[in-house]
Amino acid sequence: MSEVKNCHCQGEMSEDDMLRQIDGVLEDYKGGDGALIPVLQIAQNMFGYLPDAVLRRIGEKLNKPHSEVAGVVSFYSFFSTQPRGKYVVRVCLGTACYVRGGKQVLDALKKELQVDVGQTTADRMFSLDVGRCFGACGLAPAIMVNDDVHQRVKPVKLTELLDVYRNKENECAKEVD
Ligand code: FES
Repeated sequence: MSEVKNCHCQGEMSEDDMLRQIDGVLEDYKGGDGALIPVLQIAQNMFGYLPDAVLRRIGEKLNKPHSEVAGVVSFYSFFSTQPRGKYVVRVCLGTACYVRGGKQVLDALKKELQVDVGQTTADRMFSLDVGRCFGACGLAPAIMVNDDVHQRVKPVKLTELLDVYRNKENECAKEVD
């Protein structure tokens, strides 16, 4: 199992904080043609999703109508206007992983997390997604949890694998208290 690299101790960000941060990013893109998608990508990476207030601010500063900004966001599946889990679990359904049990891993994760693909758990800890080839075909089936790649994943070991992240969050919560 891979080592867990990501820590998410920073907690929830207020809308004001998000707008302040995106204003900082927009300073660098003022008047730049073709800035919309890069700015949206940065915002998505910073906040994990794109709340409407952020989309409106981006539109205002880049002189784009809100309908255009919202249209770009809905066109690309990478963008999400809904909050995502702290950990995005992506199951590889590329050929090598599929034939070596990727679908069973996905089914087990749906059951474990009680969500479908594209959904987020009620505690906002995990979002479930699928992907195609993480470059680990020789050690299929593979899943990613944020940037961590886990190889030769077995459905029966998934609770254990996710517990590493759950425990990480509990440790973070203790440090913050
Ligand atoms: S097909 Fe899954 S890692 Fe390549």
